[in-house]
Formats: sequence, C-alpha cells, structure tokens
Amino acid sequence: MKCLLHHTCMEFFLDTADVDEIREIASWGILDGVTTNPSLIKKSGRDFKQVVAEIASICEGPISAEVTAMDTDGMVQQALELKNELPENVIIKIPCIPEGLAATKILTEKGIKTNVTLIFSAAQALMAAKAGATYVSPFIGRIDDTGHDGMTLIAEIMETWNNYPDITTKVLAASIRHPTHVLQCIQLGAHTATMPTKIFRQLIKHPLTDKGIDGFMKDWAEVEAAGKA
Ligand code: G3P
Repeated sequence: MKCLLHHTCMEFFLDTADVDEIREIASWGILDGVTTNPSLIKKSGRDFKQVVAEIASICEGPISAEVTAMDTDGMVQQALELKNELPENVIIKIPCIPEGLAATKILTEKGIKTNVTLIFSAAQALMAAKAGATYVSPFIGRIDDTGHDGMTLIAEIMETWNNYPDITTKVLAASIRHPTHVLQCIQLGAHTATMPTKIFRQLIKHPLTDKGIDGFMKDWAEVEAAGKA
C-alpha cells in the first residue's frame, strides 16, 4: 500500500531489512519504499536475495538492494543478476566512487533505476546525478557523528538542485537519527527520507493525542453507561 501523495510530497522509506517491521509500517498506508544495505542484511540474519524478494512483496515502492563489487563490471553484473532474479520494484544501490558512477551510467542507459549511496558532499551528489542516478543518498547522522552538521549537506544539495532545475534525481536523506532530521529535510524540500522504524513511531506519537484519546474514551464510556450511545 503506497502513500496516496507519493508523487507530490516527501516519500517516506523504511531503512531496514526486518520484514516484521516493514509489514507493520506498510500497514499504516504511508510507506513509499525500503532501503537496505549490507549491514542491515547482516542484522536480519537472512539470505540476501530471499529477504529482498520478501520485502519487495510487502512494499510496492522502490526497494534498494546494494551491490558489493567494487569494480564497474562487477557492479553491473551484480545489478543485472539482482534485476533478473528479484521483483521489478527492486532498484540498485551503488557506492559513490568513480567505479560506481560508471556503473550508474551503464545501468541508467539500460533503464535500470539506481540509488547512489554514501554521499557526503554536494559535489558527490551532483556527480551521481550527472551519471543518471534515480536517487542520491546523503548520510546526515554519520556527518553529525563527526561533529559537523549533516543538515548543512542537505541544504547545499537542495540549493544545487534549485540552481539546475532540469535535474530529475531525487534527494534521499539517509542516516536519519531523530524526528527533527526529518522535519528539517521536509523544510529543505528533500524528496525522500529513509528512516528506521523507531523514527516512524516517534513521528506519529504525540502525548496530547494519547491524552485526548484517554479523555474521549472515558467520557464515551459514561455516555454508553447512561444508555445514550
Ligand atoms: O541506509 C543507509 C543509511 O541510512 C545508514 O544509516 O544509521 O547506519 O548511519 P546509519
């Protein structure tokens, strides 16, 4: 079930390979895609292709599966194998290195969608866009971890995109650590955010919503007890 506004507002992706979590968030009706990486596949404890195929059957949005070859030919070969063996909605995640740019260009020319990952500068994002990337993934949290401001990178990338309005590559904010990251990305106009399940839960929860429900339910119980429901 894909969000009804996925063409016109920020896409929300889940950053996990845990199928139970993906099922839960997909049931909310607002999940637009899923991103995985080798570390998340390791955490799942499952076979790579099997788990990605299952994820692709739960969520119709793009499901990122990452190549692990570090040379262009190897990346292209792995990508073609993944596209051949896995469902149509799987897209290919590629690291932002020269070999990855070349692989992105080749795959784009073959009509295969890509997500260029491990982006830490606006120049890297622009180079990936020039290679035809469908998505670029700047990592906010990992920049914050170094004592710098990850959100500045999103601002720089969005400014670059505004300067060149013909760029169609979507900016996929990744390595998101708290709800404020998401709100700031929304304000900057990033196209997509990929987040762990915890952030989805934090974004929907508000103590005043819970308090309001408690109050309404208590009062309604009294209406029912009075036989007036
Ligand atoms: O999927 C890539 C990215 O979101 C990883 O996040 O938390 O490992 O820095 P993190």
